[in-house]
Amino acid sequence: MRRVGITFLAALAAIGTVGVLANPVPDDSSDVVATTTSSHGKDVNPTPFVIPSLQEWQGAKGTWQLTKQTRIVVDPKYAKGGSCDAPNTFMANPSTLTDFAKTLQKDLHEVTGHELQVAVSSKPSKGDIFLTLGANAQDKALNHEGYLLDINKKGVQIQAVTSRGAFWGTRTLLQMVILAEGDGLAQGRARDFPNYNERKFMQDIARKPFPQSDLREYSVVTSFFKYNTLHHHYNDNPGMRVKNLMPNWNTYYSGFRLKSDNPEFAKYANADMAYTKKDMREFQDFIKAHGQDLIPEIDTPAHSLCFTKFHPEWSIQNDTARGDWLDLGNPEVWTFVEKLWGEFVGWFDSREISIGADEYDETKGDLARKFVNHFHDYFRDNFNRTVRMWGSDVKLPGTIEIKTDITTDHWDWTYSNPVDLVKRGHKVSNLNAPDVYLVPRSQSYWDYLDSKKLYELWEPWVFDILDKTNSSRNLKPNEPLLTGGGFANWNDFLGESVTRVEVFDRVSKAAGAVAEKLWSGAQNTQRVSYDDWAPKAKKLLENIPGLTLQRRPKSKGQFVISYDFEDGVKDASGNQYHGELKNGAKIVEIGEGHGKAVQLSSDAYIETPLESIRYPYAIGLWVKPTGDQQPNAVLLESGDGRLLISNATSPTVTFEQDGHQYATQIILPKDKWSHIAFSADGTKTSVFFNMRRQTWVQYWNPRWDQLRNETMVVTGPIGTIGSAKGNSVNGVVDGFFVLNRASYGGEMAFLGKHYANALP
Ligand SMILES: *[C@@H]1O[C@H](CO)[C@@H](O)[C@H](O)[C@H]1NC(C)=O
Ligand SMILES: *[C@@H]1O[C@H](CO)[C@@H](O)[C@H](O)[C@H]1NC(C)=O
Ligand SMILES: *[C@@H]1O[C@H](CO)[C@@H](O)[C@H](O)[C@H]1NC(C)=O
Ligand SMILES: *[C@@H]1O[C@H](CO)[C@@H](O)[C@H](O)[C@H]1NC(C)=O
Ligand SMILES: *[C@@H]1O[C@H](CO)[C@@H](O)[C@H](O)[C@H]1NC(C)=O
Repeated sequence: MRRVGITFLAALAAIGTVGVLANPVPDDSSDVVATTTSSHGKDVNPTPFVIPSLQEWQGAKGTWQLTKQTRIVVDPKYAKGGSCDAPNTFMANPSTLTDFAKTLQKDLHEVTGHELQVAVSSKPSKGDIFLTLGANAQDKALNHEGYLLDINKKGVQIQAVTSRGAFWGTRTLLQMVILAEGDGLAQGRARDFPNYNERKFMQDIARKPFPQSDLREYSVVTSFFKYNTLHHHYNDNPGMRVKNLMPNWNTYYSGFRLKSDNPEFAKYANADMAYTKKDMREFQDFIKAHGQDLIPEIDTPAHSLCFTKFHPEWSIQNDTARGDWLDLGNPEVWTFVEKLWGEFVGWFDSREISIGADEYDETKGDLARKFVNHFHDYFRDNFNRTVRMWGSDVKLPGTIEIKTDITTDHWDWTYSNPVDLVKRGHKVSNLNAPDVYLVPRSQSYWDYLDSKKLYELWEPWVFDILDKTNSSRNLKPNEPLLTGGGFANWNDFLGESVTRVEVFDRVSKAAGAVAEKLWSGAQNTQRVSYDDWAPKAKKLLENIPGLTLQRRPKSKGQFVISYDFEDGVKDASGNQYHGELKNGAKIVEIGEGHGKAVQLSSDAYIETPLESIRYPYAIGLWVKPTGDQQPNAVLLESGDGRLLISNATSPTVTFEQDGHQYATQIILPKDKWSHIAFSADGTKTSVFFNMRRQTWVQYWNPRWDQLRNETMVVTGPIGTIGSAKGNSVNGVVDGFFVLNRASYGGEMAFLGKHYANALP
């Protein structure tokens, strides 16, 4: 097929402008010039930009340069932790300074390319990064998570009271290194500390399955911004109306993600994704080395379809009630929940457990209150753990007071009143849904959190962003019973509505602005305007070491890949993403206006050096299916999903992602060239057949019990053309391209034609 020439790219760029105007592509250039000023004098370095911003900075003159000789030196007095590692509230056993040094080593390697040595020594050399403890423990701000960062011409010293505090110092250093882009770091001293103890990311990993590798990346991205707590919600069922669950309530998908090897409990675990005790041990070790602890949540007595399915006799069910409520009127239910926790509590290090306890039967207020108090005592007496629950008391009318040392995760004013709770002596954490609930593709909560609003208006003490001065709607910034807060990702639509990669995109983009306020609230006078903050936040986010889920391949221009197969699998995009012919895939002279093309069959495929691409993108290719196809024959594939020429029951081209299949209504005729292309923006994936837009990828929305025009943004699978698993499409392919932006009708015709002289 015709070679893609310079003129073609230029012409496309010109056409591309039209598309770009209508659908702006995020600007990749960002301004990293520090714009902050210091109150400490004119000639000294201004406050370095980091997220969350530093509480105190004393600028000096000059810079310090990290080199490949720099070592990370751990003070032998504290290398293994020790008495200075005071646990913070519910946090157990933070990692040692040596573990944190190793995390920093790995991160700096990825950012700078230097393999810095980690040494244990009380004598750092010139140019080293020295990690030590022994900072003044009487300094309330430093204890337990504050740190002192001193950058001077001799090197860097990070000193804290606890190893976790020192770790936050390494996050500051890492961010400065990223933004310096190889230049020196500003000399000066920071005294930095959080105003809120609890800085949390809560995730519903019940309704959507996430592999453990994803969960680790959530830890990496949140710990980069100094979140110290992850909260995992392990069980739930579809977010849909009560009546829609009936009468076939026990046929719906439900999630329980903890897989015991005890047969009594093993049966509750999901087949599509569940974590063993060993998985959870490894996960907690990983997050500890990132300064974090995990609050586990098994949610009862509501949201319990995963249990009532097996025990219908324990559920409440009638015309108006749903089968997912455990019946607290039945003593067997109490015993069951005790045994359930007895089985799993030992898997977790955290001193605090979430028992869920949200959205239960309003007619059973006192019974539910009794249940909550019972489990408070159960955890205290048997496991020396404290308990938290979702805000619920307003909707559980009753006379029994919920025990005051149960922390409430406030999420909705109609379920709990944070001001009232604090007046009655309860601890409260702020997860107020209108601000910090991220529920992909839901129409009632945020799809993406509003970072600008959060940055400018939100605080952990703000429970009514529209009425911040009203003391009956908000807490005081320094309220001792306010533990802090965070943000929450709920996946009510069971993962059909959004891919893992798109969830990660949403969460990672929300983490920075929330972190900014979780650390210091509005009490930080060094904070820059949102317009100055956002481009630097973006730059940091794009360069966080240890992340793969961002799925945005680097590209010099708008073409990420362009293969015309005239000269092997050469990439004409300029990115050098050349492909390889595998297992007998071969270039064939095909004529028919296509020149050379590639012949694929079951084992034969083309491998690209990439994996997937997150929106915005456009992907297209020519394909001529020949002979018979295996069921689920693959056109494109990656670890994130597949594009199938058909599936076992439907002859249409089908996307498969995260275990769900999405039809496209397109049937590729046999022995004939067709052009097929996809273009995704943030809200939909358009499907083009022979260069005309035919449809959108859609999903079944359980809320409405039918396929609605709910569009789906699929992650582009571009790891292989065909499949490495012996299931490639039988046929010839040509003109494969990937653009790093969405594309539209007229342009798609232009694109397709330029990869072939002959058109259908
Ligand atoms: C169904 O259960 C709900 C919740 O417990 C209760 O309020 C209602 O009275 C019950 N309805 C019938 C018909 O029993
Ligand atoms: C209970 O846990 C706390 C830490 O949360 C610890 O200080 C205390 O010693 C423990 N008590 C027992 C009896 O283990
Ligand atoms: C503060 O909020 C309360 C509760 O919503 C409301 O009744 C009251 O009028 C508000 N006060 C002011 C000054 O707006
Ligand atoms: C094939 O895809 C359709 C949607 O196109 C889906 O409804 C069906 O369940 C899929 N078949 C199989 C066997 O997965
Ligand atoms: C379906 O959704 C797309 C994308 O949001 C929209 O442009 C189109 O008009 C909708 N089609 C119908 C039939 O509602």
